[in-house]
Amino acid sequence: MATRSEQSPNDGGQSDIHPANDLNELTGKHWIRFTKSWFVCDSPRYHRNKDTELHPARYPEELVAEFVNFFTKPDQWILDPFCGSGATLIACLEEGRKAIGVELSPKYVQVTQQRLQRLDALGNVQVLAGDARRLTDPALWQDCLACSDGELPQFDFIITSPPYWNMLHKSRGGVESTHKQRASQGLDTHYSESEDDLGNIEDYDEFIEALGAVFDQCQRLLKPDKYMVVVAQNLRVADGYVVPLAWDLQKRLSRTFNFQGERIWCQNTKQLGIWGYPKIFVPNYHHHYCLIFRNDKGCSRPS
Ligand SMILES: C[S@@+](CC[C@H](N)C(=O)[O-])C[C@H]1O[C@@H](n2cnc3c(N)ncnc32)[C@H](O)[C@@H]1O
Repeated sequence: MATRSEQSPNDGGQSDIHPANDLNELTGKHWIRFTKSWFVCDSPRYHRNKDTELHPARYPEELVAEFVNFFTKPDQWILDPFCGSGATLIACLEEGRKAIGVELSPKYVQVTQQRLQRLDALGNVQVLAGDARRLTDPALWQDCLACSDGELPQFDFIITSPPYWNMLHKSRGGVESTHKQRASQGLDTHYSESEDDLGNIEDYDEFIEALGAVFDQCQRLLKPDKYMVVVAQNLRVADGYVVPLAWDLQKRLSRTFNFQGERIWCQNTKQLGIWGYPKIFVPNYHHHYCLIFRNDKGCSRPS
């Protein structure tokens, strides 16, 4: 995965950017490479530390960097409504973008703030403590770097990974699962006990609708014709059936956005669990869907 900072001089310069390209600063070669519908990304060690490891479900900064470089130009504004430990903000900073994250858990807000402080980055990226279900409440945006004149901010790109339903509450498997290992190391196994935490909703349909309502609000914060990427996964629940969360989300969000397709994020170094052996087939889910939407369904803009 070539991020902006990793492109070699031989990969082309400003002059190789097509004059009609107003989306990004990629050469044709890098543009086409990105359109392959799957990629491998395993989080390199250097972004990990004691604080970030506390969070139970992070995505790699390198993944965000690649999407941000495709869907934005330098200095544009990016939103992550489920910011967690701040991977989106760190990646945006490293790639010369500006970004706002919203996060419910005070603990992860603090983790993110500390990461940003260490990088002396507080002018261009910011984490807001708040509830993503109230994204269009002006109170959330008071004192936000991306706002002026009390208006709701308008972002150039949204990238996020919401809670995967209440899966973090479930431990399973005949071997010591990641869940149990984390608990024994004193690391978080779920986000919070808060009833506002979408990862604590028991009923699946209610969960999908709550997420749908968050993303309906995202549409009002995203500039017309701009893109949103939602990272999600299908889930095998302990009772032996698969909940197609990624596919259900795609369907619900397509009411508001125009679905453009998916890129499949493959994790190649994740440890295999021994789930069904030697009796039944149980997949080791080592891939996630990066669902790509465009804000050009103007007729269904929610009020
Ligand atoms: C999958 S994690 C995001 C992880 C993030 N991408 C990272 O790499 O650190 C989902 C996050 O959503 C947060 N969350 C849950 N309910 C929320 C809500 N109502 N508003 C804002 N954040 C919420 C959780 O605390 C959790 O940190």
